[in-house]
Amino acid sequence: MKELKILGVITFFTLVTYWGVEPLAHSIFHPHVDPADYEFKDLPAVEAKGDVAQGQELVSMNCIACHSIEKAGFPAPLDNATANMSYGVVPPDLSSAGAIYNANFLANFIKDPATATKTAHKFTGNKVHPMPGYSWMSDEEIASMVAYFKSIAPASMTNEEVFVDACGRCHDMKYSKNFATSDVSNYMGSTPPDLSMMIRSRGEHYLTTFINDPQKHLHGTAMPRVGLNESAQKQVVTYLEEVGDSKKAEREGIAPYVLGFLAFMAFISFLWKKEIWSEVK
Ligand code: HEC
Ligand code: HEC
Repeated sequence: MKELKILGVITFFTLVTYWGVEPLAHSIFHPHVDPADYEFKDLPAVEAKGDVAQGQELVSMNCIACHSIEKAGFPAPLDNATANMSYGVVPPDLSSAGAIYNANFLANFIKDPATATKTAHKFTGNKVHPMPGYSWMSDEEIASMVAYFKSIAPASMTNEEVFVDACGRCHDMKYSKNFATSDVSNYMGSTPPDLSMMIRSRGEHYLTTFINDPQKHLHGTAMPRVGLNESAQKQVVTYLEEVGDSKKAEREGIAPYVLGFLAFMAFISFLWKKEIWSEVK
């Protein structure tokens, strides 16, 4: 009977730690933030209907002075060093823009990049966002460019490809490859960290809400809201996991065996103890 009492006491305190103390500590270290909003509801809806042909023309007139669109045959207009010098960051290739960004975010980004990315606080005085906003265009023209990007978007992308297009101009993943083509410390006032081990230091939950809206966690941060749709963002987080924590699936797969083994050994020990003590009586 004594064993059962001890077991009861241990179980009680384990559960108090698991359900009481741990969540409390967690909520202090990671204050609660609203879940990720993949609709970007804070941005006005651009509802006009777009026309692909018009969009193609507008993009080739306005965007390829800075951006490559490899898929449509537009090479990078500047080499990386020159782009860095001119804009402080290398403008990303736009081949996949229609696939990875939420369409309404993309429309709002083209109109006003600093507001859409929630980095307006970084561009005050005579500092302006390196990409000019196209708020002088009609909603219909903006919608046409979005429709064009959708029309050339790849049907599927690898996790790494999404990462490169969405994050690679600013962040490295040195345990996989060095991607960052930009030296954004001047432009943004802080250096983007290497993301190789981020999944371990921050965890999936934090990253999911952070990438969707960095200001929620780090108020005033230079990191722009990137505007990824849900599936593209999942691919990015999976990629961070593949590089930073490649053994996760294996580790989780082993857990049931370990628990089974412990339960089995506990049972054997119990029988063994009973056997030994039976002689003492
Ligand atoms: C004067 C150069 C310039 C022009 C012209 C320009 N861009 Fe950009 N664009 C940039 C730079 C620089 C960035 C990177 C900004 C950053 O990372 O902070 C960027 C980023 C982007 C992004 C990434 C958005 C995100 O959420 O990360 C998209 C999409 C984009 N531009 C679309 C366009 C479209 C569409 C046009 C034409 C209508 C255009 N750009 C014209 C310089 C330019
Ligand atoms: C235009 C450049 C730029 C782009 C694009 C960008 N980031 Fe960042 N990121 C930054 C900067 C700058 C910081 C440092 C922010 C600071 O110090 O306040 C940062 C910080 C971070 C951090 C650290 C957060 C923390 O808690 O310390 C993570 C994680 C991150 N970025 C992930 C991403 C991911 C994932 C993507 C792509 C979806 C991405 N970033 C795209 C510039 C960028």
